[in-house]
Amino acid sequence: MTTIGHLFNHNDLIVCDSLSHNSIQEGCNLSGATIIEFPHNDYQALDNILSQQREQYQKVLIAIEGVYSTDGDLAPLPEIIKLKHQYKTFLLVDEAHSIGTLGLSGRGIGEHFNVQPSDVDLWMGTLSKSFASCGGYIAGGKELIEYLKYTSPGFVFSVGMSPANTAAALAAIQLLKEEPERAITLQTRAKFCLDLAKSRNLNAGSSADSPIIPIIVGEPQKAVTLSKNLGQQGINVNPMVYPSVPYDAARLRLFITCLHTEAQIAETVSKIVRASEEI
Ligand SMILES: Cc1ncc(COP(=O)(O)O)c(C=O)c1O
Repeated sequence: MTTIGHLFNHNDLIVCDSLSHNSIQEGCNLSGATIIEFPHNDYQALDNILSQQREQYQKVLIAIEGVYSTDGDLAPLPEIIKLKHQYKTFLLVDEAHSIGTLGLSGRGIGEHFNVQPSDVDLWMGTLSKSFASCGGYIAGGKELIEYLKYTSPGFVFSVGMSPANTAAALAAIQLLKEEPERAITLQTRAKFCLDLAKSRNLNAGSSADSPIIPIIVGEPQKAVTLSKNLGQQGINVNPMVYPSVPYDAARLRLFITCLHTEAQIAETVSKIVRASEEI
């Protein structure tokens, strides 16, 4: 939020995906830049916006996510990188849910699509998901990072990570480096879950190639009831409701880890099917 707010201003344009996380939206508001949303993952629409608007602004930022947190689908990163070069814009990728989960060794959406890391100006990630900690990071070119280190208010005027959080994140990263096959196991398990959910006629929306599998159930109350019911049966799955998602597209959001077994996943899907039939 403060990185976007700090780097861009009222002379600039930020074009972000319509499903952007609140932290991107708040960063855009903080910056004072003109904000335009493009329809989710529609890079053709993004191209149209940039062709009409680019020349009117000094700096332009395209802000996207690696894995979209509500729907569990991936950004079309290679196509968006092409547009970034064509229109000479900055590109920020929020890897909150893609770092540690995508790619052959869990290095995120860049590894998944085999792109050059330098094709993205700002790789942003959190440590609160795959890395079992709290906090986040910005990675990018040396000059940009030096600039942020000395000037970004959210960094300069705030404490750093606590030693315990740092140790937890480091341990998670070291473990993934030592056992990169965890990423492949996770991807296999997530595909198993998605295929099974679809075969049982559950609505998993546009989820694909990611460890986030939403089960879209309709009104918020339905998702809350299902979540409570499943909790009583030993399944920990939180409801996600409006305003995070459209009112009539409330959902249960399954997060798969490499430690979930196929048996656990199959049992979970069966319990969701049964609980859905009961309400
Ligand atoms: C896409 C995305 N970006 C940023 C965040 C913020 O992460 P944190 O809660 O670690 O600050 C989240 C958290 O859910 C997220 O899903």
